Amino acid sequence: MDRLTIEGGRPLEGTIAVSGSKNAALPILVATLLTDEPCVVDNVPAGLRDIKTTVRLLESLGKRVRVGGASVRVTAAGSLKTQAPYDIVQQMRASVLVAGPLLARFGLVRVPIPGGCAIGLRPIDIHLQGFEAMGARRIADEGDIILSAPRLAPGALRLRFPSVGATENLMLAAAATPGRTTIRNAAREPEIADLAAFLVRLGARVEGAGTSAVTIEGRLRLKGARHRVIPDRVEAGTYLIACAAARGRLRLKNAEAGHLTAVIAALRRAGARIRFGRGWIEIAMDGRPQPVSMRTAPYPGFPTDLQAPWMALMALSSGAARVREDVFENRFLHAAELARLGARISVSGAAAAVSGVEQLSGAPVMASDIRAGAALLVAALAARGRTVIQRVYHVDRGYEDVEGKLSRVGARVARLK
Ligand code: UD1
Repeated sequence: MDRLTIEGGRPLEGTIAVSGSKNAALPILVATLLTDEPCVVDNVPAGLRDIKTTVRLLESLGKRVRVGGASVRVTAAGSLKTQAPYDIVQQMRASVLVAGPLLARFGLVRVPIPGGCAIGLRPIDIHLQGFEAMGARRIADEGDIILSAPRLAPGALRLRFPSVGATENLMLAAAATPGRTTIRNAAREPEIADLAAFLVRLGARVEGAGTSAVTIEGRLRLKGARHRVIPDRVEAGTYLIACAAARGRLRLKNAEAGHLTAVIAALRRAGARIRFGRGWIEIAMDGRPQPVSMRTAPYPGFPTDLQAPWMALMALSSGAARVREDVFENRFLHAAELARLGARISVSGAAAAVSGVEQLSGAPVMASDIRAGAALLVAALAARGRTVIQRVYHVDRGYEDVEGKLSRVGARVARLK
């Protein structure tokens, strides 16, 4: 298994090109199941493990997929299957998104129930309740869920929580269901609006994406389309936070500041100077960060995916900060690993109290999930001495060419195979 070694304590100076959004690319690639015509998706972070897994998933369902750089071309290769393989769903929970398009088009789908994961139980009840409200019947069988509905009915759905995945799954189903479906208490993340833009290109009508009420007017037959994925706001946010921790000045290109309002506000309160324009963001940081408390919330709140990197930054602050995780129930696994680098963090339920220290120091640590890995990276870049991060495959799920991008801005990062 690969490891990353980081010699920390060097400021970051230079430009990083932000990749396309993983979390937008995943549902958009899955949306190609809605049509038999060719689709091309551009600005896909095709080097990421989760994207490779999605390509395998589409192929296993009967699509032909060609990846060339950041462009992915998906075409039909015969009839589609309606059963998602367990080994793929187990590797990537977002695989359950195939349920929506396949159920709507073929009246039947079989998907393994994704197990829990490091950050929580992560049930899919909101997805299933939505399908049931559209008329699907659910049967559980040997760890799989079978959904059937000769024809889904459009309808008025209301989610008990604005789940990103459930909103996407139901939008995908509604796009292939003739009539008008409304999803209330929908997730408002930019990735939802990007999926909506793709669905519109396929021929569906979508209104309100990005607000808490999304209306989809589906069609029996959708066409092929070409689409460019939005920039990855989590990758961009991680590098901004890394620069605030390690100091220096960084320019991000292909970045969208409008998707990072809560994070930029928090960084400014911590003392970073930030400027942005169309497609770029610049950060400069000299001193130690001020303590800034925050709590995670669905968009446009502070993203849960940047909570762990934020905690790493606060570990170096000049005071005490509180970090509250209100989206996932168990997303503090990084606290104990950060402590190995000298951080002072005490966790109690959904809240963590972080007392800043002046210096962190390098140590061997282990990534437990994508964003915990990112937090360790942020801390390691700022720490004195050498950090070795084990289980880098977690980082590789969400950060394309992480050692290349960081090395080019002056960090000493190397991968050990
Ligand atoms: C997506 C993102 C992930 C991000 C998360 C929250 C992708 C591929 N992943 O994950 O990076 O951290 O949004 O912004 O886009 N829940 C239920 N029942 C359900 C569905 C969700 O209880 O049926 C709960 C989850 O356990 C969790 C919360 O709702 O506590 C948020 O989950 P959700 O918004 O669905 O996240 P994902 O779509 O899985």
